[in-house]
Amino acid sequence: MHQLAETFRRFAVTHQRAAPLYSQIADRVADEPTVLDLMSAAPVMQRIPVLLFACAHHLLLSNPTRELAAHYPNISTCEPDGDAGDLFVQFVLEHSDEMSTLLATRSTQTNEIRRSNWFLFPFAMLEGELGPLAHIDVGTSAGLNLLFPKLTFDIHPGGSIGDTSALTIQCDVRGQPPVIDHVPAVNWSVGIDAQPIDVHDEVAVRWLQACIWPDQVDRFTRLHSAIDLARQSNLRIDTGDAVENIARLVAEASTHGHPTVTTSWVMNYLSPAQRNSFVNELIRIGTTTDVSWVIAESPLETPELPVTSSDGEDITVISLITWRNGQQVSTRLARTHPHGNWIHWGQ
Ligand SMILES: C[S@@+](CC[C@H](N)C(=O)[O-])C[C@H]1O[C@@H](n2cnc3c(N)ncnc32)[C@H](O)[C@@H]1O
Repeated sequence: MHQLAETFRRFAVTHQRAAPLYSQIADRVADEPTVLDLMSAAPVMQRIPVLLFACAHHLLLSNPTRELAAHYPNISTCEPDGDAGDLFVQFVLEHSDEMSTLLATRSTQTNEIRRSNWFLFPFAMLEGELGPLAHIDVGTSAGLNLLFPKLTFDIHPGGSIGDTSALTIQCDVRGQPPVIDHVPAVNWSVGIDAQPIDVHDEVAVRWLQACIWPDQVDRFTRLHSAIDLARQSNLRIDTGDAVENIARLVAEASTHGHPTVTTSWVMNYLSPAQRNSFVNELIRIGTTTDVSWVIAESPLETPELPVTSSDGEDITVISLITWRNGQQVSTRLARTHPHGNWIHWGQ
């Protein structure tokens, strides 16, 4: 039996409820050695169902008239015809050359603007303490979370805050977060990424869209709106490594407001040695500069970070690390859904 068949079968079972379309397709692909063989074009660590799905989705988004597209709720509202699994296999085999190139060169990418929810309450705490912020988003991808000051946050329970003319983000909160009545002021911002995504590059943006699962129509629509807003917003995004650039960026930020570093699902991309170096850089900077770091990462995948967690905690945790007059204080704030759908404050 093909080694990968079992991986696809397992995906089909575990994602039946959350991703019915990909579950159905995975079940069919598990029985299709020709498609499984095609995956040998990908690096070994990337031979995973979501990469195959993203590559096909990428091609389908540029050719949405295909019969298969009618099965993708994010692309089409037409009544689907035929079996999605069969149509997927047929589509992939018809495009085997393009699929091989994508499989060999791409890895899955996420930039979720709903993660701005993670910054809302810590930023309010910091603004209350020190006034307007200067935001450095590390591992910013397309920079969508730099749009923070332009967003409306619809907080449940609590109500709406922010500029209602742009993009509204739903923020579902449990527990007792700080009460806020406005979006905290960010005077200046910059993103840094080793491989940033240019929002003006149609192919790069299509890849971000392709990595969203088609059943998650709301994420797809939100990404579309966020990209539109980013295209009008002239965001500053530097290309470079987090460790090498953080000191330079904090120094620049501190001339504009309180330097506030954010990392959201980025530190897991770094090696343990790189994570230690990043932490040590901030500790070094913190001896002479007041700086804050909002961390939203999985403790299981980033055990080197100075946050409070139970052993191997496999959920996104929001923490705030502050350096004031050389003193470091680490505060665990909340647990949260990995895309920011809800925040459980105080957990
Ligand atoms: C999953 S994305 C997270 C994007 C965004 N922070 C969010 O929450 O939606 C991780 C990003 O980290 C970037 N990255 C990985 N290693 C990096 C490094 N050493 N320095 C800077 N960026 C890095 C990747 O290029 C990628 O864009």
